[in-house]
Amino acid sequence: MQLDLFDQSANAILGAKTYDEFRAALLKAGCTKCRLSQSRTHLVLDRGNPRAKVVLIGEGPGADEDAQGKAFVGRAGQLMDRLFRAVDLDTNRHCLILNVVKCRPPDNRPPAADEADTCMPFLKKQLDLVRPKVLVFLGATAVKYALGRKEIESMESVVGQMFTTPQYPGATCLIFYHPAFILRDPRKQPIFEQHVRALKDYLVREALLTA
Ligand code: URA
Repeated sequence: MQLDLFDQSANAILGAKTYDEFRAALLKAGCTKCRLSQSRTHLVLDRGNPRAKVVLIGEGPGADEDAQGKAFVGRAGQLMDRLFRAVDLDTNRHCLILNVVKCRPPDNRPPAADEADTCMPFLKKQLDLVRPKVLVFLGATAVKYALGRKEIESMESVVGQMFTTPQYPGATCLIFYHPAFILRDPRKQPIFEQHVRALKDYLVREALLTA
């Protein structure tokens, strides 16, 4: 999406100087740039703390998120909250939770490539304003679009990785399973727990929980 100099709402959204300004402008303008807007109830921008050092990136809103206008409030989000709480991480306080797309894909299908690409400037703007120290990619859609690794064959080959990338300067990146996948295959939960523990250890080691 280009920033059209004559499009006042795009200017207000993508030109926002603060996260709160960005949020207010996007909610006010109510994006209709892709087909997902036609069936949504709410634009779902986030949940949590915009001043947090950790940003979690999911796929897109499901039915509960669409109804409430908040990210990760359904079963997958509740599971994630519980597994973070087990290591004393509060997702509402220590994290900001974002998604690749801001509107619910019908029938909870993954977003199509054109939908994800259309929505990406909003996610990039959010990350630009928040400048997280740690960026967690939850599942294949986040890896594919927010990290741009469209070539990955399976989550198994990348999950648990910790790395930096010029794409997100100043952030340490981590790849986790999506919590909805853990709901579908609870045998993978111990791996998710191990990754959350590694995140917590990193935050403690780097003194990122104190500020
Ligand atoms: N799954 C996601 O990827 N995001 C949400 O907000 C909820 C479920």
